[in-house]
Amino acid sequence: MDSDFSYAPAPDLLQDRVILITGAGGGLGSALAEACAGLGACVILVGRTVSKLETVYDRIVAAGATQPAILPMNLMTATWGEYEALVASLEQNFGRLDGMVHAAAHFKGFTRLEDLEPREWLDGLQVNLTAPYTLTRLCLPLLRKSQDASVIQIADEAGRRLRAFNGIYGISKRAADALIGSFALELKHEKNLRFNSVDPGPMRTALRARGYAAEVIQDIALPQTRLARLLWLLGPDGRGVSGEAF
Ligand SMILES: NC(=O)c1ccc[n+]([C@@H]2O[C@H](COP(=O)([O-])OP(=O)(O)OC[C@H]3O[C@@H](n4cnc5c(N)ncnc54)[C@H](OP(=O)(O)O)[C@@H]3O)[C@@H](O)[C@H]2O)c1
Repeated sequence: MDSDFSYAPAPDLLQDRVILITGAGGGLGSALAEACAGLGACVILVGRTVSKLETVYDRIVAAGATQPAILPMNLMTATWGEYEALVASLEQNFGRLDGMVHAAAHFKGFTRLEDLEPREWLDGLQVNLTAPYTLTRLCLPLLRKSQDASVIQIADEAGRRLRAFNGIYGISKRAADALIGSFALELKHEKNLRFNSVDPGPMRTALRARGYAAEVIQDIALPQTRLARLLWLLGPDGRGVSGEAF
């Protein structure tokens, strides 16, 4: 968990950076999108529920920040061709990517592997592992056009520490850490590309509530308070850092 890191970003930290965030309508994704836009980034909001993305869009525009873009995508059902179309649209409209944050996640609750529905296994793999792999892989040419591109996988203790009942969520999160680490190793000679994973710790979001229904949710930190490491990694202060699991 990486919740103790404190960082005061410069007001123009992400000026002119183009940053794609998946799960941008969710708790962490929306908080990060708004923070990045407030620091000068052009944010590309990727997610499943368009109304949630529109809410984030409206808040960014109302705050007077750079106009974001909405790219709806259901990561559970997306085909390779749909990913290619999304990347073609990014290429045409932005020409490059300076940041990519894989924040979307599929989690229905803790369960015994023995009780897991076959569909649930596939859905978890699809959203939590196949989506970050496919997007990162297909976006490499756009990331390579950046002077300093930062890719971040949002991790979870449920994947970092082996525990019973974490189900496909824990297994896919663990694999996603391995995925981002593998990109870092394979591309370490390309100094303008960095790949890291960050576990933000427990946050007051819909996902958390699904796993801990008995918890007093007000006691859990808001996602807005867990952005420091992400902003540091997305901006120039994180240059040279790759292959780390924060
Ligand atoms: N909350 C915590 O305590 C905690 C702790 C450690 C790590 N994390 C990680 O933090 C990240 C953000 O989660 P969160 O806590 O902010 O939860 P959240 O509010 O539930 O956000 C998850 C996001 O993922 C999106 N998503 C789910 N399935 C999708 C699909 N098929 N296609 C496209 N988007 C999809 C959701 O879209 P919809 O809005 O359309 O459902 C939502 O925007 C996740 O990677 C999670 O694993 C969370």
